Amino acid sequence: MPLRVGVIGAGFMGRHHVRIYREMPEVELVGVADVDESAAEVAAEYHVSFFKDYRKVLELQPELVSIAVPTSLHHEIALAALRNGTHVLVEKPISNRLDHAREIVQAGAESCCKVFVGHVERFNPAIRSLKEVLQKGTLGQVHSIANLRVGRYNKRIFDTGIILDLGTHDIDLISYLFGHRAASVFAVGSLQPGRDYEDHATITLKFDQDQTGYIELSWLSPYKVRKMFVTGTRHFGLVDLIEQSIIVYDGQRWADSGLVSRDEPLKLELASVVEAVQHDLPPSVSGEDSIYTLQVALEAMRSYREGKAFHFPEFAGSSYPIGNK
Ligand SMILES: NC(=O)c1ccc[n+]([C@@H]2O[C@H](COP(=O)([O-])OP(=O)(O)OC[C@H]3O[C@@H](n4cnc5c(N)ncnc54)[C@H](O)[C@@H]3O)[C@@H](O)[C@H]2O)c1
Repeated sequence: MPLRVGVIGAGFMGRHHVRIYREMPEVELVGVADVDESAAEVAAEYHVSFFKDYRKVLELQPELVSIAVPTSLHHEIALAALRNGTHVLVEKPISNRLDHAREIVQAGAESCCKVFVGHVERFNPAIRSLKEVLQKGTLGQVHSIANLRVGRYNKRIFDTGIILDLGTHDIDLISYLFGHRAASVFAVGSLQPGRDYEDHATITLKFDQDQTGYIELSWLSPYKVRKMFVTGTRHFGLVDLIEQSIIVYDGQRWADSGLVSRDEPLKLELASVVEAVQHDLPPSVSGEDSIYTLQVALEAMRSYREGKAFHFPEFAGSSYPIGNK
């Protein structure tokens, strides 16, 4: 039996969910909801019923819904879906508020429904390969991972700054690659006149075992870059998340890792979510991981405002592993 799925929010991200679910034979896409009538075109293109009110999609009793509405609305819609007995895939970040994020995860536990959070970069084939490279110890001991994520601001992002919108990708990725939670965060940030949230930020994450994460974020760059620089004691790795490539410098020359088999990260993410629902598997990105990521992002915002570092002694050590896989 195909899995009955709905999509709530069919803007920039939601329309990709619609497209991919529609291509999956193991999915029956039952409905798409968006308050904006023009999103009906997306539903029409993929021959799916369209509703302006998301509750109409929930009335169809889908087993899973993707929630791809602005971040500040994730909480309301995720709670409604979970209380309806529907598993949810919430786009990242899980919420813009920690209490809301916790309520979403709690509602999942109470309703025995799964909460997936769309940290899609975990499914980037370059990240999957990098994780393997790190686990094999090819780079030696890795002391620092530096991520560069810059490009132009898009005004459709009205309810968060760059730390919540983009930085959460990197907080999640770096923690996942080191395999555990950061113990402190320090950030500097700035915003352009007329903007409510930061457009530029540099975040430093300090992990136990002498590991550091650096994240450079900007919406002021005319050029889009998504790169990671991984410094190991033996080799240096350069990852391009757009090209989906890893090249490694061994001290004398650069070589392609030859490991990456390219694919669309969202396709891999949705396949993993559908499989987890159908076979009752734990989510690859747990609700707890996404609460942690949000907490670090919110503390990074507080850090640039107050000009000081924040520590998470409760996260120290490896008792908080990140990622099930
Ligand atoms: N995983 C990623 O890489 C990635 C990339 C982009 C966006 N996102 C996340 O996806 C979410 C949506 O971002 P976006 O860029 O697609 O924004 P968007 O503005 O393009 O789309 C949001 C859509 O939600 C609709 N909407 C608003 N309120 C609604 C409601 N009550 N019911 C139904 N629909 C409603 C809007 O009309 C709009 O079409 C955000 O949380 C964002 O952080 C994730």
